[in-house]
Amino acid sequence: MIVATTEQPVEINVDDLMQFVFKAVEEVGATLNTALVVMGDKLGLYQALAGAGALSPAELAERTGTAERYIREWLNAQAAGGYVTYDPDSGRYTLPPVQAAALADPDCPAYLPGFFQTALGSMIDSPKITEAARSGAGFGWHEHVADVFEGCERFFRPGYNANLVSAWLPALDGVVAKLEQGALVADVGCGHGASTILMAQAYPNSTFVGSDYHAGSIETARRRAEEAGVAARVRFEVAPAGGYTGTGYDLVTMFDCLHDMGDPVGAARHVHSTLKPDGTWMIVEPAAGDRTEDNFNPVGRAYYGFSTLVCTPASLSQDVGLALGAQAGPARIADVTGAGGFTRFRRVAETPVNLVYEVRP
Ligand SMILES: C[S@@+](CC[C@H](N)C(=O)[O-])C[C@H]1O[C@@H](n2cnc3c(N)ncnc32)[C@H](O)[C@@H]1O
Repeated sequence: MIVATTEQPVEINVDDLMQFVFKAVEEVGATLNTALVVMGDKLGLYQALAGAGALSPAELAERTGTAERYIREWLNAQAAGGYVTYDPDSGRYTLPPVQAAALADPDCPAYLPGFFQTALGSMIDSPKITEAARSGAGFGWHEHVADVFEGCERFFRPGYNANLVSAWLPALDGVVAKLEQGALVADVGCGHGASTILMAQAYPNSTFVGSDYHAGSIETARRRAEEAGVAARVRFEVAPAGGYTGTGYDLVTMFDCLHDMGDPVGAARHVHSTLKPDGTWMIVEPAAGDRTEDNFNPVGRAYYGFSTLVCTPASLSQDVGLALGAQAGPARIADVTGAGGFTRFRRVAETPVNLVYEVRP
């Protein structure tokens, strides 16, 4: 088959073309499933299916107070995608145990609804990002729909629950002993405060200051701290990373936010000036390799997507606009910390989605 392009004819194999088309069909199905997973999450469909055995659409609709015709269509889409199983004889659908853990158990480290929620929120804002890409303008984190913030919190929290206290903090030199004795900790770019509250619960002798430039997130973080019963030892403030208050910190933490900042080097300088001389800066960043091609895998693909729609525009919306991107990789993060005055940089832990660095003056 010969296809004429504007430049010159190029020969294309029809089988290869159809293979690519069918890959695209699968991806369109997967894209639509993002909205369907959020729908199932918000309507309580996964919760109702979990452990319930086989249910008909009418039974699921009745248990969730929803309309049967919508639920039947939703279940068929879920079955076609392998999220539920379907028994043609009974016309009933089952949520298998693995899917139930990942979709209906917020305590599962692999709990996924938040991932889909933040992805859907990012896509809702995509027309604005498309326009920004014409001009090079930024689009602030705070300008997104609430699903981006809430989904981010719900996606990251299970990973922090599974790793922060058991693996990441113990990987830092001498930090756990200080936290147990009573340390002063700043959690910068804390969003809804999931990491701040988790650390406060684990280390009752320590005091925590969570900060974020987004006022709406700080309001939620304060509410979460009240609900968790740690508000007396956790103070939240609205502040950019280059201007949070206090000095003499034993530990400064940044979870999945350094690359979102317009001026990460300025932030690094501020961290340096607020840390004790023997203090530690812990940076958690998305898992990434240094070379672009290192990140051509499913995790890298998802992060490049988020980076295009959320992280890069967020950084470009702020002063300096360095725009590290969500796949900056260890070498660029090390450069940023060095430019901020730090002399020691060490990768101390990793998960399939995160890298953890210990940075010291
Ligand atoms: C991906 S979210 C991570 C939030 C939180 N650390 C977590 O792990 O759930 C990135 C956060 O960085 C914050 N942020 C972006 N630029 C900032 C800046 N210059 N100073 C402080 N916070 C900033 C955003 O408001 C947002 O809450």
